[in-house]
Amino acid sequence: MSHNGTTEVVRPARTVRGSVRLPGDKSISHRYAMLAGLAKGTSRFANFSTGADPHSSLSCMEALGATVVKRPDGVIEVTGVGGTFQQPSRDLDCGNSGSTMRMLAGLVAGHKGTYRFIGDASLTKRPMQRIKGPLEQMGAKVELTEGHAPMTVHGGTLKAIEFTAPIASAQVKTAVLFAGLGADGTTTLQEAVRTRDHSEHALRAFGAELERGKDSISIRGGQQLQAIEATVPGDLSSAAFFLCATVLFPDAQLVLDDVGMNPSRSTLLDVLASMGLQVKVLNLEEKHGEMIGTIQVNGAAELKGAEIVGDLPALIIDELPVLAAIGPYTSTGVTIRNAKELRVKESDRIALVVQNLRAMGAEVEEFEDGLHVPGNQKLRGGVVDSADDHRIAMAFAVAALRAEGETTIHGAEAAAISFPEFFPLLNQISER
Ligand code: S3P
Repeated sequence: MSHNGTTEVVRPARTVRGSVRLPGDKSISHRYAMLAGLAKGTSRFANFSTGADPHSSLSCMEALGATVVKRPDGVIEVTGVGGTFQQPSRDLDCGNSGSTMRMLAGLVAGHKGTYRFIGDASLTKRPMQRIKGPLEQMGAKVELTEGHAPMTVHGGTLKAIEFTAPIASAQVKTAVLFAGLGADGTTTLQEAVRTRDHSEHALRAFGAELERGKDSISIRGGQQLQAIEATVPGDLSSAAFFLCATVLFPDAQLVLDDVGMNPSRSTLLDVLASMGLQVKVLNLEEKHGEMIGTIQVNGAAELKGAEIVGDLPALIIDELPVLAAIGPYTSTGVTIRNAKELRVKESDRIALVVQNLRAMGAEVEEFEDGLHVPGNQKLRGGVVDSADDHRIAMAFAVAALRAEGETTIHGAEAAAISFPEFFPLLNQISER
């Protein structure tokens, strides 16, 4: 239970309407912060994520010698170290952010020095062996505490490896590619499922050359990075909550401007379209390899269910809690399998979704690797707990919009990890 957090009460809505601009993508913001911190020159980022996680990345980069300025107009300026990190005089505190810890471990591994990584209670429980394996193969030394943080990386010159990713994880892929930047020779990574490719685009934007094979990506070590100017696209994983709110009401209408439409992230739109969401994407543009567009959506005349199995869960892993949370309102239910990774996210997201759906009166079946939420169920307002997990807090705020009666969400402040503006914006688009 979250005992000293804030509580939000969400009342049912009649429908959802409006137009919203979302803060910058969390995944892209992390990568821009890290690469800008290493690059030569001053990078400038508009619409950088307002979430606490990417700001953990920024403060780690400061500890490594970069200068970060948060300008009054919201632009974030990062002056990089120009290729050589400073030995930090403090621990690299990653807060709640697994992305910071795993990706930055790869980036520092090729730099001589000792780097101690710490995180909050949730992050301290999350598996880090997955990056220790490849980084040690490359010649770094990584000390873990029973498989978790606190984690110490002893960096130095690395040797290039060929690595086949044992799990579908963009964070692990990124750790290897970032380490490859500091290795002698060319590092090649193979992945069975093509996970989000923001690191590949970001590395190229900062001037590195990468080569893409059929299922592989290669990076040559020793390449220098140059500062960039960029506008971070709106976060589609934050948009997911409003898209799921929209699909719940036949007469709902929503416009989301300047949202990241990278194809490795946009599978959610296909899933929601198959459930009945009417989706139009307008004004598609590309910048630094990332697609940006306006999403115009209308609610579903009939809300159908979804089967999210096979390779699909890996492609929409962060959106699964909210898809499961609206499962009771669908006609045929929502089934999620092959999603064991959900158990080692910021919380055990399978257990928490099951617990909170039950707290709202739903019937749910739990599996080791997923869950089944039967359709055609009514939810009643209840008391749910985020367990300090941002996506759980937001998922149940969306489910609450069609429940009977009010829903109390404990630990609602967790939303600020990725989306501090979530509750006011949800309120703004909800018509009651
Ligand atoms: C992320 C990758 C995913 C995702 C996380 C962000 C990234 O994690 O869940 O929120 O930015 O690369 P995994 O790599 O552990 O799947």
